[in-house]
Amino acid sequence: MGSLYGAVSSLSDPTAALADPIQPPDLSKCHTATVTKDTTVACCPPLVRIIDFKFPSPREPMRTRRAAHLVDEDYIKKYEKAISLMKALPDDDPRSFKNQANVHCAYCNGAYDQVGITPTLDLQIHFSWLFFPFHRYYLYFHERILGSLIDDPTFALPFWNWDSPDGMQIPPIFANTDSELFVALRNQKHIPGGAYPLLNMHWSDPIDDKALAPEDQWDINRRVMHTQMVSGAKKRTLFFGMPLKAGETPLKAGDAAANTGQGSIERSPHMNIHIWTGDPKQAHTEDMGNFYSAGRDPIFYCHHANVDRMWDLWKTLGPRRTDFTDPDWLEAAFVFYDEDKNLVRCKVKDCLDSRKLNYDYQKVPLPWLDTKRTPKAKKEKFANAAPPKKRELTPLSAFPLVLNKAISVVVPRGKRSRTVVEKEEEEEILVVEGIEFDRGNVVKFDVALNDEDDTGVPAGPQDTEFAGTFVNVPHREKQGAPSFKAVLRLGITDLLEDLGADDDDTVVVTLVPKVGEVKIGGLKIDYITD
Ligand code: C2O
Repeated sequence: MGSLYGAVSSLSDPTAALADPIQPPDLSKCHTATVTKDTTVACCPPLVRIIDFKFPSPREPMRTRRAAHLVDEDYIKKYEKAISLMKALPDDDPRSFKNQANVHCAYCNGAYDQVGITPTLDLQIHFSWLFFPFHRYYLYFHERILGSLIDDPTFALPFWNWDSPDGMQIPPIFANTDSELFVALRNQKHIPGGAYPLLNMHWSDPIDDKALAPEDQWDINRRVMHTQMVSGAKKRTLFFGMPLKAGETPLKAGDAAANTGQGSIERSPHMNIHIWTGDPKQAHTEDMGNFYSAGRDPIFYCHHANVDRMWDLWKTLGPRRTDFTDPDWLEAAFVFYDEDKNLVRCKVKDCLDSRKLNYDYQKVPLPWLDTKRTPKAKKEKFANAAPPKKRELTPLSAFPLVLNKAISVVVPRGKRSRTVVEKEEEEEILVVEGIEFDRGNVVKFDVALNDEDDTGVPAGPQDTEFAGTFVNVPHREKQGAPSFKAVLRLGITDLLEDLGADDDDTVVVTLVPKVGEVKIGGLKIDYITD
């Protein structure tokens, strides 16, 4: 048991001893969580006995997580039964639905401090390489508790197959108002039967509510998926997010070069789907639209099952797409409640292989795998005889600046005309640095490359020029925490190739504000190996 990763155990490996992995929180020091500048919430889960994680017995049956829109009546009954039993557990039972939701709130809204760090520093499991492993364990235990409540060791969570045309709406099992899986606090325009029921992976705000034909909506979604999983996720840090070690925060104060950032899938569509699902009529877009309340909607676990599935899939997309080997990641640890009400200390290194955790995903097609976009410039040339006017350029020296209108900036590239091998070695990335905003708000801006024609409509995910998006789901750290700067890193090697811009000395970067107020510190092109 555990032999595969035994080599990096902290006792035997000298590098591990030097490492600074994030430690599990001390639940006895849990304090109130912060929702907005002046709203706090108590969501500390109960303190119980702590044990170390053990792999499930290989004799246990494999649990197969199925696409939520493909499950049968029998399964739905089981799932509803399990959720209703979980909801019926008393508040002091760590397995209760309420406590399950509180686990997420406490880890995400500043209820825990990092252990052994002074002055105190929030523990935050989003916005860094902790995102995938934290949520994997969270679901693993949630699923096992549900299974044990109905005495079914094969019980598996469903996954919201939003990466397929059939799955791009709220799965019907969560929309039935008579079901235990239903909650009212969702965007009423986005529920089945609502005005805009098709999931828009690029959504950030009511301005994005458009009644598109399913094939046009799918066209946008598949391109978001392709960018986030394939072309924009060629290096580990681009997919998983940036390293985070003890004593650091993904929300670094005052440091323009803060070396942190979300991974591609975490940023989009994961964040977009949270805010698309939450109810904008609530003060904090509850439930799904705010981290403190997201775990109160059963759909959260189904959404995250698909996020988790993306981790498994990403590793099948190329030989270099492997997990980190850095002991700061492998040795990082969290605590979760198991089906026997224990608090279990779990290390990242033990969750890398989902099959060793005895679960797997139903195989369904990956329709976003191969997809090419058409440059917007080309489409416009067909449509338009007269050449459109060029965008006005903002000099790099104008940064830092408040992004209150779309701006275009010429950014120099350090390398050009690289060979195939060089491109494989080093991914070219666009870095948007020193991003400042109020993290209690929804914030979004889009980024496009060489979208030079000012036609009034900036490039969107349907166009080759589109490079990515920055999205924040409201969540707050402790009151009085200093405002922080974030970094957006986008892999652009493929994109520049598709644009035929490989030999250029510069690239024109267009930033388009969508929602919320953002200040940007600067832009640069960089080359990364990991
Ligand atoms: Cu912990 Cu989807 O967020």
